[in-house]
Amino acid sequence: MKYVIINGSPRKKNTWAVVKQIKKSLDGEFEEIQLIKQDIPICNGCFKCFDGEENCPHFDKVNPIVEKLKKADGLIITSPVYAMNVTSLLKNYIDHTAYLYHRPALFKLKGLVVVTTAGAGHKDVAKYMDETLRHWGVNKVYKLSFACGNEGIDIKSIDKVAKRFRDDVESGKLHSPKIMDVIFYNVWRRFALDENHIERDRKYWRETGLINHDFAPEVKLGIFKKLIAKIMFNLFKKMF
Ligand SMILES: Cc1cc2nc3c(=O)[nH]c(=O)nc-3n(C[C@H](O)[C@H](O)[C@H](O)COP(=O)(O)O)c2cc1C
Repeated sequence: MKYVIINGSPRKKNTWAVVKQIKKSLDGEFEEIQLIKQDIPICNGCFKCFDGEENCPHFDKVNPIVEKLKKADGLIITSPVYAMNVTSLLKNYIDHTAYLYHRPALFKLKGLVVVTTAGAGHKDVAKYMDETLRHWGVNKVYKLSFACGNEGIDIKSIDKVAKRFRDDVESGKLHSPKIMDVIFYNVWRRFALDENHIERDRKYWRETGLINHDFAPEVKLGIFKKLIAKIMFNLFKKMF
């Protein structure tokens, strides 16, 4: 199995200690990306990625990481809590991937989010990272978050979640998405039908064939979620 680790902490300390413990439960190849060493300039808000990610002035730094994610089976992504949010390092990377919200691609990837904090904010930050990954298309996201100042890190729960993550990655099984993921997918799918919408999104949804499906075809939807997908798609059709 191939795992990519994106470390959003500028140092290898509390958050990295959790990663080191997780690695003990996983078998495979690991590729570590220390964002601090990537020197990715701040997203300058040029909007160019929406017209094609290769237009981003920082494409040479951002895209190799996205390409690694496309080839990986599992992603471990981490951040300490800084001022009740992710670090600017991680947020800057996420901002550079905003185009993936329009053109989700990582439907086979499984993720494990790791967050540490001194005392507060870890649950909300882990939730934000979980949602970010799902906007990228990631199939299933596991979470580990610890308030190190209060409780320290709990080795038993790390091992338990890491093993569940490992078994899931190794199974290759794809899970049914959450309802919100089905809804967002169908918002972007609907936009892609609109003649006035960003041409690159329209091309992506057409060329990948995603435009023809209630959700990424490799991911099975039960009858209820299929129904939700159809209702939302038709509702958005009427609304826009
Ligand atoms: C700039 C900065 C901001 C922080 N903000 C918070 C915060 O809002 N709430 C909190 O409980 N801890 C906060 N912390 C503490 C870190 O989240 C905590 O020590 C974390 O485990 C550090 O992880 P690391 O060792 O991987 O860097 C902050 C630390 C720094 C350096």
